[in-house]
Amino acid sequence: MNEYDSDRIKNALDAEPTDDPKKADIIIINTCAIREKADQKAFSSLGKYKHIKANDPSKIVGISGCVAQLYGDKLLKKIPHLDFVLGPRAIPKLPDIIAKIEQDKKRTVETSYDIEELFEVEPYHQKGKVTAFVSVQQGCNKRCTYCIVPNVRGDEVNRPLPDILRETTNLVNKGVREITFIGQTVNSWKENGNKFGDLIREAGDIEDLERIRFTTSYPRDITKKMIDAMKDVPQVCHHLHLPVQSGSNEMLRGMKRTYTREWYIDTIARLKDAIPDITISTDIIVGFPGETDKDFEETMSLMREIEFESSYSFKFSPRPGTPAAELALEEAVDPEVASARLTELQAFQKEITATKNEGRIGQIEKVLVEGESRNDPEFLSGRTDHNRILNFRGTKDLVGKIVDVKVTEGLLNSLRGELVV
Ligand code: 5AD
Repeated sequence: MNEYDSDRIKNALDAEPTDDPKKADIIIINTCAIREKADQKAFSSLGKYKHIKANDPSKIVGISGCVAQLYGDKLLKKIPHLDFVLGPRAIPKLPDIIAKIEQDKKRTVETSYDIEELFEVEPYHQKGKVTAFVSVQQGCNKRCTYCIVPNVRGDEVNRPLPDILRETTNLVNKGVREITFIGQTVNSWKENGNKFGDLIREAGDIEDLERIRFTTSYPRDITKKMIDAMKDVPQVCHHLHLPVQSGSNEMLRGMKRTYTREWYIDTIARLKDAIPDITISTDIIVGFPGETDKDFEETMSLMREIEFESSYSFKFSPRPGTPAAELALEEAVDPEVASARLTELQAFQKEITATKNEGRIGQIEKVLVEGESRNDPEFLSGRTDHNRILNFRGTKDLVGKIVDVKVTEGLLNSLRGELVV
């Protein structure tokens, strides 16, 4: 989501991006507020640009994203070298803000938005890139008690189907072969009588679009219609990111996730029934207020039962204005206990992922070649249908093509293989 917004910011500015902040006329720090750590990162990044601005006051320094929305004008007061604060929904207003600052030298806060123009600025697309994101939804209507997103990104707004298809087709015409539809609860997308399953089917009709992914799915919004579309549309990749957050019904209730452990397990069974080779990844929060050893053990038993392909796991972090932050005042889990739980869970996931990666040795995987491997230019890098990174020796003319690769090695975060010719 943030990567997409950063690319929209690049496009809104209509300027040449640079990796060297000293050369930049405008420096914007796009931020995330989901957990405290991300929030703190925003402040330390801002600190780095203090001297650059002091040496050349004509440079414009701004903060955008969810931290900008969360703290608003407090940021201007706290950070003297900051010129503007821009909320995540206000990106279309960026050109006007810059023009005003250049003209009047006045510091600005823009955290309001206009629904009509929410999706107006499409992202910058790097030439030659064969994968791209397309936003189908902004904001969120769920009210998970730990989550700050609805406070900073607002209620769910779904993008009209023709706009989504137009942006996708334009990208495909530029050489993109894989699209990832993005939204906070992407599969709750509905618009003008269409549901998420319809969106997938329509996207499946776009010529030369080879792969369709989407993230992040909300468990309760997985419908038969969605599963049928995933099964019927051949471009849909057989991997789903489906955050469960906890294996304990008590915790799921406290988080207001609106499903039970049993319901989640049954949903995975329904998905596997329709698409036997589907792989599932997830997000987990440990140390939610009130989480007992028994609750955590239920999360571990769920991990053992489902054997997720991979998982992102976090220690609960109280976020300003959320109900769970209030709850944490009374029922906080000892931070050391939470850390120990996280370590245990991550060690277990590592084992599962390693076993699964090793289990793929000898198999032939279809890989969309994205480019040269970052670590070794003699290797190409791409992703399997199941979203695993697979590196193999090959020449650059294969970029953008889907090729068969035989897996020879299963590493922790990636696979290695040989091109099948
Ligand atoms: N504390 C810890 N983790 C959180 N997440 C969201 N809010 C919090 C929080 N307050 C995690 C969830 C979500 C992922 C994007 O971040 O697991 O799925």
